[in-house]
Amino acid sequence: MDARPLRLLLLAGSARKGAWSGHLRDAARPLAEAAGATTEVIDLRALALPVYDADLEAAQGVPDGARRLRDAIGAADGLLLVTPEYNGFPTPLVINAFAWLSRLQAEGGVASGLATTANKPVALLSSSPGPLGGLRAMNFQRQFLQMAFAMLVVPQQFALVRASEAFDESGALKDAKAVQSVTGVLRALLRVAGAMRSA
Ligand SMILES: Cc1cc2nc3c(=O)[nH]c(=O)nc-3n(C[C@H](O)[C@H](O)[C@H](O)COP(=O)(O)O)c2cc1C
Repeated sequence: MDARPLRLLLLAGSARKGAWSGHLRDAARPLAEAAGATTEVIDLRALALPVYDADLEAAQGVPDGARRLRDAIGAADGLLLVTPEYNGFPTPLVINAFAWLSRLQAEGGVASGLATTANKPVALLSSSPGPLGGLRAMNFQRQFLQMAFAMLVVPQQFALVRASEAFDESGALKDAKAVQSVTGVLRALLRVAGAMRSA
């Protein structure tokens, strides 16, 4: 049996300075570590992925940023994706990164983008300053990751409403119930990730 701590990759769907989804990802990080995981964060903007364009792909190939994302997903036992909501939908930053990821074929003994995501556990959180907390986008995100990427999206999820009032000065969630909900999602993710690792 593998005694190594489970490794989680944490992603936020907005790279905006001061993004509430980034705050929620950062608030979830110590909760994941308290639950026994090690964590890694990738800033999707830092992958420098242009808007997907088949002509660009034909001319230049898939950008290396997609390989960085593939490798980080491959090295993780599970993912936590915190999504904001744009017009009830996940953000272009996420959709575009996964579009490029899906174009990576197996190369040099490394699995394709789609083989890397297949059967990988992922849990979803969402956030919004509004009253729905990004819930609509989170449900699309679930469908997208399950249907197109064959990911194991854990049933538990949490939408943080009124995100602009949710954090204290240290960046922690003020509401004990929100902490409990995020912890519940993380525990569910770690259960599935642990089961998949030993499967
Ligand atoms: C194009 C666009 C569409 C938006 N649509 C929604 C929406 O459907 N629901 C919602 O709650 N907030 C919506 N918002 C407001 C975002 O929730 C808000 O800008 C939020 O701060 C973005 O996430 P972030 O803080 O993680 O960057 C929208 C914002 C933008 C820029």
